[in-house]
Amino acid sequence: MRIIVEKDYHAMSKKAALMVASQITLKPDSNLGLATGGTPLAMYDKLIEMYREDEVDFSEIQSFNLDEYCGLEADHPNSYHYYMNDNFFNDINIKRKNIHIPNGGAEDFEKECRDYEESIKNARGIDLQILGIGSNGHIGFNEPAENLNVATEVVDLTEETIEANSRYFDSKDEVPKKAISMGMATILKADRIILLASGKEKAEAIKRTVSGKISTQVPASLLQTHPQITILLDQEAASLINKDELSADCHFEICK
Ligand code: GLP
Repeated sequence: MRIIVEKDYHAMSKKAALMVASQITLKPDSNLGLATGGTPLAMYDKLIEMYREDEVDFSEIQSFNLDEYCGLEADHPNSYHYYMNDNFFNDINIKRKNIHIPNGGAEDFEKECRDYEESIKNARGIDLQILGIGSNGHIGFNEPAENLNVATEVVDLTEETIEANSRYFDSKDEVPKKAISMGMATILKADRIILLASGKEKAEAIKRTVSGKISTQVPASLLQTHPQITILLDQEAASLINKDELSADCHFEICK
């Protein structure tokens, strides 16, 4: 595990964008796993800027989003379809046919999950997966639980996540109670993973992700088993990490 602490959100986002861009330079037809939420917004902005400056070309990439709310159609302003178009896809040259996001308006969610998993497999897996993290340690919408899903499935959102995500909705009642999310194995099968976290409200989840035992109660802690994981943090999100509690093979770097 490689942990990089940048001085602030802006520097962290810039580093993330540069890592995504170099993945695309090395492999122009990369399959990117993408995340939503507030955290990756500045990374997407920087990638749009780099695209406008001709520094990155998205024409051959395929994208696979982590999750989508059940019951929200693609044109709903709170759907992750809408978020991705509005914050990223509308401003770059990705081909529409290469965009994959679970369909929150599907009639048969079980089938949608199977088809989504199949589409990732057919594309030969994800080269680089971007992740955010919930303050309870969830990744995608894999919530803390005794058992975690292996593949893409419909999940029940926890009260904590509904509360946290209500800031994007007009009221808490409007937050869907269920979502479709890639499973833990879907995520862990990616060749490389970058997890982004910013702000002190993520500090405890990050501490429990990078140190201590792996637990399904902190889904992100399973990332400790991944051979190519980079955790990119700002100083606040890194504030509770105790270097002495990290495993011996963990690389910890603080950028000035
Ligand atoms: C949602 C998403 C996650 C995201 C998390 C954190 O629950 N399903 O993929 O990482 O929120 O969001 P934020 O970056 O807004 O804190």
